[in-house]
Amino acid sequence: MESVEFHTARALLEWQIELGADECISDTPVDRYALPDRLAKPSKPDPKPHLTRGPVKMAERDPVAEAQAAANSADSLDALRTAMENFELCDLKRGARNMVFSDGIAGAPVMIIGEAPGRDEDRIGKPFVGASGALLDKMFGAIGMGRANADAPIYITNTLPWRPPHNRDPKPEEIAMMKPFLLRHIALANPKVVVIMGNWACQALLAKRGITRLRGQWVEAVGKPALPMCHPAYLLRNPEAKRDAWADLLSLKAAVDK
Ligand code: URA
Repeated sequence: MESVEFHTARALLEWQIELGADECISDTPVDRYALPDRLAKPSKPDPKPHLTRGPVKMAERDPVAEAQAAANSADSLDALRTAMENFELCDLKRGARNMVFSDGIAGAPVMIIGEAPGRDEDRIGKPFVGASGALLDKMFGAIGMGRANADAPIYITNTLPWRPPHNRDPKPEEIAMMKPFLLRHIALANPKVVVIMGNWACQALLAKRGITRLRGQWVEAVGKPALPMCHPAYLLRNPEAKRDAWADLLSLKAAVDK
């Protein structure tokens, strides 16, 4: 390989970090655009270029319908995890290191729906293991619940199972495509109540945004009582909102104990 002068190499690295390539995950780079499924090219000019995205032709395949069929055919949480691992139509999968399915105790009365894995979750393959996760554990610990607490368990998943690159906001089509899996996940885990944590989970389950208005008001989602709450990442940035979060936790505990 041609050698690069120090300052040039440094500038190139900084540029890559700026673009979001901020982690080294293998010794040699992989050109994902050169992988076999990226090589298929239309033999004649695509008449509907706006319907062609990456390796998958959206005109020929309906990702939501395929997700729906795959999710519906899963009759257990293990089968659902496998169906999601095998689902190839969401581009987020290509950039993620691990799929993040769930943590905690399946069958718990409380199921928390977060947003999407961040860097730590992508690395470890479990939801809420970073700073937000530490706060989430403290919050639920304060009402006597926990993901490893066999007497008062919680079960946690996310709206999206793969990390969006550089923690960008999920796209509406990504949420729509993964929603059938999320709904099936809730049906199979069958909690007594659902906690809808943050705006993207509200978007997926309630088709609404505006968590600071929605929080604390019980609604129905997937046929279950559901409580929108502010996301722990929001609480870390806005500690004054912790007071309302505490009221929401007490409301949640009362609903579970009823
Ligand atoms: N934020 C989420 O919503 N989910 C995670 O798993 C981590 C951070």
